[in-house]
Amino acid sequence: MKKKIFIETYGCQMNVYDSELVKTILAEKEYLLVPEESMANIVMLNTCTVRENADRKVLNRVHQIKNSRHQKETILVGILGCMATNFKTKLLEDPKLKIDFIAGPDSYKQLPQLIENAWEHGDKSFDVTLSEFETYSDITPTRKDGINAWLAIMRGCNNFCTFCVVPYTRGRERSRDPYNIVQEIKHLVSEGFSQVTLLGQNVNSYQYDGIDFTDLMRMISDIDGVKRIRYTSPHPKDFPEKLLQLMSEKPAICKQLHMPLQAGNSRVLDKMNRTYTKEEFLALIDLTRHYMPTANISTDIIVGFPTETDQEFEDTIDVIKKVEFDSAFIFKYSERPNTRAAKKFPDDVSEEVKTKRIMRLNDIQNEISLRKKNTQIGQTQTVLVEALYTKRSTDDIQTRNDANQIVILPKVDPPFDINIGDYINVKITGATRNSLKAMFISV
Ligand code: 5AD
Ligand code: SF4
Repeated sequence: MKKKIFIETYGCQMNVYDSELVKTILAEKEYLLVPEESMANIVMLNTCTVRENADRKVLNRVHQIKNSRHQKETILVGILGCMATNFKTKLLEDPKLKIDFIAGPDSYKQLPQLIENAWEHGDKSFDVTLSEFETYSDITPTRKDGINAWLAIMRGCNNFCTFCVVPYTRGRERSRDPYNIVQEIKHLVSEGFSQVTLLGQNVNSYQYDGIDFTDLMRMISDIDGVKRIRYTSPHPKDFPEKLLQLMSEKPAICKQLHMPLQAGNSRVLDKMNRTYTKEEFLALIDLTRHYMPTANISTDIIVGFPTETDQEFEDTIDVIKKVEFDSAFIFKYSERPNTRAAKKFPDDVSEEVKTKRIMRLNDIQNEISLRKKNTQIGQTQTVLVEALYTKRSTDDIQTRNDANQIVILPKVDPPFDINIGDYINVKITGATRNSLKAMFISV
């Protein structure tokens, strides 16, 4: 029987990229990649474990997949990614789950062997070893479309923010050879990709033979044919001014950045081991706007970290009102096994208080996001065509602006020969919470 594989991806962009690596690793063997779970006899879930509800989602999905199949049908389910390293053999030992193999983020080259063990011999096998060296620089991901290419420049994290499980699931920081990265991007350009998004758990820790992240960005922005460069995520603690200057000077680097705040109170930030204060964060935003006055800035915030008081939460509100982020991803604190916070600080903010705080913050941020979008009405912007339809309508085109916002325009506007991957000029005519509306001006 032909081994037919389907990979379902959860979590962050790094996982999307990793699934593309796994596809290449498996396509080199005799596997067939199929487009739907129901067509596969080997299903892999590339998982996230950053919050408890991420775990729950995957475990429910495993039950759903197993229960949807006929008893006699051979179907293997594998767990890849961060849950694999976080729970290790516990996942294999759970009789209710019936998982067949697991592979952590540094073990994807072992997957053909792990699958063989399970397929040929019925052996449940796992590899969750973390590596100090694996960067998969020898593997070209099987990328989906010809617009944006994800590209990991570094892997792992050495920061040990006390709430975060990532240093335990993805291991220590290691950076990829810059010349190898530049070669890959040149190749991507030749394949028609004009946007590249550099990925890393902490991109400004990038370091390879004396080349730092700003040096790498300069090298990439000098490549002919790269029209848009984005990156995620930097850490506010070691964000270099020279990078802001470079971003302001190079048209190819998008004026957009994700700057994770996590909390607005300095005592809470210290307890989180973020190593910056509220004032230092605000100063970094001022510096960013000094170089790029209209930069689009997004953030991540956690509410209800252990011991956070109502008064301290007000500092987070103060920061989001002062900064006016363009968008924010706001989460309730979720205790994660193995983290320093789980070991040292009881999860003592009640669910009810967390809910109140997240609702309040979302209300304030939604109002700010919409107000900031509205200020763009009347502007002319260059957008990249992503799809000739939207989720809602086949009469609309979906595009994206430099700020990484979705811009929707009606097809009825001329011309009809717009293609995916084109850059066109539009006039912004309206705004909703999730997107901007526009009309076509010129190619
Ligand atoms: N609880 C809630 N949110 C978390 N994040 C990371 N760990 C946790 C946790 N234990 C959030 C942070 C991070 C984003 C990717 O997920 O805000 O920036
Ligand atoms: Fe987690 Fe902090 Fe590393 Fe980000 S920087 S992955 S939040 S430990």
